[in-house]
Amino acid sequence: MKDEIAQKRIQELTSILNEANYNYYVLDESKITDQEYDKYLRELEELEEKYPNFVLEDSPTKRVGGEVISSFEKVEHAIPMLSLKDVFNESEILEFDNSILKMGIHPTYFCELKIDGLSVSLHYEKGILTKAATRGNGVTGEDITHNVKTIKSVPLKLKDPIDIEVRGEIYMSKETLKEINLEREKNHLPLLQNPRNAAAGSVRQLDSKVAAQRNLDTFIYHLPNPEDYGFRYHHEAIDFMKSLGFKTNPNNRLVSNIQQVFEYIQEKTQIRQTLPYEIDGIVIKVDSIKQQQELGFTARTPKWAIAYKFPATEVLTKLKDIVFTVGRTGQITPNAVLEPVIVMGSTISRATLHNEDYVKEKGLMIYDTVSIRKAGDVIPEVVEVKKERRTGKEIPFTMIKECPICKTPLVKKKDQVDYFCLNEKCPARKVEGFIHFISRPAMNIDGFGARMMEDFYNFGVIKSIADIYDLKKHREDLTRLEGYGEKSVDNLLEAIEKSKENSLERLLFGLGINHVGSKTAKILSSHFQTLDALMNANFDELVSIQDIGDIIAVSLLDYFSKEENQILIQKLKQHGLNMVYLKGKILQDENFNGKSFVLTGTLTQMGRDEAKKIIESRGGKTVESVSRKTSCVIVGENPGSKYEKAKKLNIPIWNEKDFLAKIKKV
Ligand code: IVH
Repeated sequence: MKDEIAQKRIQELTSILNEANYNYYVLDESKITDQEYDKYLRELEELEEKYPNFVLEDSPTKRVGGEVISSFEKVEHAIPMLSLKDVFNESEILEFDNSILKMGIHPTYFCELKIDGLSVSLHYEKGILTKAATRGNGVTGEDITHNVKTIKSVPLKLKDPIDIEVRGEIYMSKETLKEINLEREKNHLPLLQNPRNAAAGSVRQLDSKVAAQRNLDTFIYHLPNPEDYGFRYHHEAIDFMKSLGFKTNPNNRLVSNIQQVFEYIQEKTQIRQTLPYEIDGIVIKVDSIKQQQELGFTARTPKWAIAYKFPATEVLTKLKDIVFTVGRTGQITPNAVLEPVIVMGSTISRATLHNEDYVKEKGLMIYDTVSIRKAGDVIPEVVEVKKERRTGKEIPFTMIKECPICKTPLVKKKDQVDYFCLNEKCPARKVEGFIHFISRPAMNIDGFGARMMEDFYNFGVIKSIADIYDLKKHREDLTRLEGYGEKSVDNLLEAIEKSKENSLERLLFGLGINHVGSKTAKILSSHFQTLDALMNANFDELVSIQDIGDIIAVSLLDYFSKEENQILIQKLKQHGLNMVYLKGKILQDENFNGKSFVLTGTLTQMGRDEAKKIIESRGGKTVESVSRKTSCVIVGENPGSKYEKAKKLNIPIWNEKDFLAKIKKV
C-alpha cells in the first residue's frame, strides 16, 4: 500500500473507532456492532504495525494496556485538589444553606451524585491527554497516565484542541466488582472490599494491563479554573466538559432552593440501589462561580459545597457463633454466624472470617458485639469488635483441628495461613466441587444454586459431576421434593442440557483442577482447542505456553493421570458434552470462514465431531463428498477415495498437522 493511502486509512480508522468508543462508553449508545468494531480495530492494528510512523496520539490501540512503568512519578497540583466537608443530616444541610444566606448570597445549587471511587485530575495539551494524576494529599499526587489511558470513557483527544485540566472520579461498576470478586473467590484471592478500593488498587499498578482488564469508568465533575474559560456558572463548565467529549453524570440537576435540594436527595436515595455504580452521598455545590469566589475556602474544603453522606452502612450486631466450612480444595474457612440485621436493605446473618489469623487479628470472641458493613452488592464484612460492650461471658475463639465434616486431621502448610482437609473423598469437598462445576464462571447452569446441589447430594441423586447429566432420569422424584415444582425442575433440566454446548474453557474450569482458574482454562482451551489434545500434552508442551508455569503443568498432568478423572471425562463425553473451544472465532479466521471442508481418514488428535465443531466455530462448514466447490480436504490416517478425488480435482489438501497448525494460529 502506498504510504499516503495507509496514512489516510489510519486516520480514518482512528476516527471511526474513537467515535464508536465515545458513543458506547460516554453516551451509552452503540451505532456499530461489536463485529464491525473488531474488524476495524484489527485493520488498524495491522496498519499501525506496518506503518508505526503514522500511529496517531489518540489511537484506540493505546487503550489495550501493556505499558509498564517502574515507579510512580510525583505530580504537583497547580490548584490543590480539595475534598468536601461531609454532613450527615438535614439540619447540617440547613446550616450550610444558612451560612451562605448570612453572607447575603442567595444561591442556586447544583446537585450531583457523590460517586464512590477515587478522584483524578486529567491534563490535556492542544486537546491531547498528556497527564493523569491521583489526588494524593491534595497538593501532590501520583502520575497514573498509563493506566488512565486504558479507561474507555476518558477521551485521548478532545473535540477541541485546547489546553485544559479537568477533574472527576474513576470508579468501578457494581457488576464489574462482582465479577472480579467471583473470579477472585474461585482463585482463593482476597476479595476487593468496595468499589473505591477496587478502583484505587487498579490505578496503582505499574503494569497498565491490570487496569485495562478492570473495566474502569469515569464521571467528570469539576473544572478547577472555570473563570479562565469565561464561565459564570458551574453548570456551564459541566456542559462545556461534556461537549469536549467527557462523560458527565446524567443525574446532575440545577435547583433553585434548599427545599429542592432535599427533594433531589430523597429522589436519588430511592434510585440508589438501581444505579449500576456505587454512590455514597450527594454533593451540593453553589452554581455561580462569582458566589463561589465570595464564599471562598477553609484550609481544606470549599465553603461553597458540601457532601451529604448517606447514613452509615455499618450496623452493630452480635456474633452468635463461629462455624467452619470446607471448600472445594479442602480449605477451611471460619464464618461469623450473626444475629440477623438489615444493612442497606438486605438481611445479613453470615460473614466470612477468611482464616484463623484474620479472626485473631480482629480479636473476635463468640458473643462479642461487632460492627458489620455492607456496601451495595459488596460482600458483608465484620469491621471490628466493640470491646467496650463485653460482659465477661464471651468465649475465646479456637481453631479446629479436624475437618468438621469428615473428621480428617487438618493440615496447615508452611508459611500459609489456611488449614486444609486433604481427604479427597470428603463429602463437603465433593459437594463444593459440584457447586463449582455448575457455577456462573464455570458451566453456568441457570437456576442451579448451591442449596439445590446440597439437596440433590443429600437426596442421593448426585454423587459425581457426571450424575448432573443423569438428573433427567430422576425427574419424577425431584418434582416430589419439597420446594421443587414441575416447572422449576423442567427449567433446570433444560438448563443442564443447554450447558452441554458450552465452550471447552467452561468445562475445563468447572473440573476444578488445582491452579486452573478461569483465565488459565481459557488460555489452555484456546491453545489446545480440544480436551483430548490437552490431555495428550506433555510437560514440555504445557510449559512452552505463555502464562503456563511448572505448577499448573504438574497439576494438569496429575489430574489427567488419575483413573477416576479419566472415567469422569469419558462419562461426560458419553453424555454429549462439547469438548471443543468455541469462543469468539467466527469471522476471525480466514482459513475457515465461508469455506467448505471434507474430512477423510482417521484423525489422531481428535474425533471427527470435534474437528467439525472447530471448523464450524470458525465460520466454515463440513460436507460429505468432494466436489469442485470443496475448498479443502482434510486427510487423516488411511484416507479413502475422497483423497484421490481431491487430488484429481486439484483441491487443496491438509494433513492433520496442517489442520492443527491452522487452528492453533488464531
Ligand atoms: S467535587 C472542590 N463532585 O468526593 C470540589 N467530588 O470529599 C471537589 N466525589 O475528593 C470535589 N463525586 O473524590 C465532587 N460529584 C462530585 C463527586 C466528588 C465524588 C469525591 C471526590 C472528592 C470527594 C470529596
